[in-house]
Amino acid sequence: MKVGIVEKPGVLKIAEREEPKVVGPQDVLIQVKRVGICGSDVHIRHGKNPFATYPRVWGHEFVGIVADAGPAVARIKKGDHVVVEPIVSCGRCYACRQGRPNICETLAVMGVHIDGGCQEYIVVPQEKAHRLPAKTPWDEAVLVEPFTIGAQACHRGNVQKGDYVLVMGAGTIGLTAVVNAKLAGAKVIASDLVDEKLHYAAQCGADWTINPQSQDLFAQVRQISGGMGSNVTIDAVCNQKSFEDAVEITSAAGRVVELSFNEQPSAIAPVGIIKKELAICGSRLQTHRFPIVIDHLEHGRLPLAGFVTKVFPLAEMVEAFDYVDKNNAGVRKVVISL
Ligand SMILES: NC(=O)c1ccc[n+]([C@@H]2O[C@H](COP(=O)([O-])OP(=O)(O)OC[C@H]3O[C@@H](n4cnc5c(N)ncnc54)[C@H](O)[C@@H]3O)[C@@H](O)[C@H]2O)c1
Ligand SMILES: [Zn+2]
Ligand SMILES: [Zn+2]
Repeated sequence: MKVGIVEKPGVLKIAEREEPKVVGPQDVLIQVKRVGICGSDVHIRHGKNPFATYPRVWGHEFVGIVADAGPAVARIKKGDHVVVEPIVSCGRCYACRQGRPNICETLAVMGVHIDGGCQEYIVVPQEKAHRLPAKTPWDEAVLVEPFTIGAQACHRGNVQKGDYVLVMGAGTIGLTAVVNAKLAGAKVIASDLVDEKLHYAAQCGADWTINPQSQDLFAQVRQISGGMGSNVTIDAVCNQKSFEDAVEITSAAGRVVELSFNEQPSAIAPVGIIKKELAICGSRLQTHRFPIVIDHLEHGRLPLAGFVTKVFPLAEMVEAFDYVDKNNAGVRKVVISL
């Protein structure tokens, strides 16, 4: 079978591998239909993801059909359409015992630490495969994983009905946060430097959009929120300045949700945090968000039509990654079809 692999930083190619088989009683074999290209896959290709090891079959956003199942598999059956939850955790460490396997001490993410979904067939334990409505087009189903990231950010920020939520950055992840915040009943402000991205954010339900290059972000957010600032700020820009701005702009009793993998320190004075009793938290991947997002999908609550910008066949995988590199402003999600 064919796999898409980053052999070493800078070397992305299609290779041949033996087709995997169901071994354990709880295993399912999945025929992969679509894999989404995420910013982190681009970083893995270019050797800029600090967690990745090589060679690596890339892909953590993938969907497919159950092609075979071990004798103890009960949750799903052959022929089901599924999305794979791409994280493997130990089940024993403190985080796992707290019900937070996404931050397990020995967390392994498919496509990052272990091989991922860009292969014609993959075997995963049944609990990693979530059933999808069979009627959902593959080019929409493949968006479930990215939408779990926005769902997690809203969960971590405890977004409540009526809250003013500022989503900084209307890239793919910011947009998924906008959609999830709207579904939670929040009033959503999105910021981005690119007007085209703000246009998408409005399409995704943002009530206000701000371009900090031509508008004063702080003044605008204060004005919209009646002077208090955003109650929840989700940082999907992810640089030192955006973290500092998020702490500054968030209201008393507010929450700052940080999505950044940035290793550069920010300069934030503690007094600004205690004065407002801010809760500043990280949000990494997701916990227990797949069933919630799939329910939204099933009930037509996600604005998915047109979210996938372009689909490339596996044979044109390298061109697809080049396309993402060259077209950042216009790209929401580029997908590989297998
Ligand atoms: N924590 C997690 O689980 C997790 C998961 C996925 C991605 N991420 C991180 O989230 C971030 C966003 O991912 P993405 O795929 O959406 O990236 P992206 O590059 O598509 O989006 C970033 C957006 O921020 C905008 N931007 C840049 N500077 C800005 C500024 N000063 N103000 C407003 N907007 C600005 C850009 O125009 C762009 O649209 C990345 O840093 C990524 O590593 C985190
Ligand atoms: Zn992703
Ligand atoms: Zn663990």
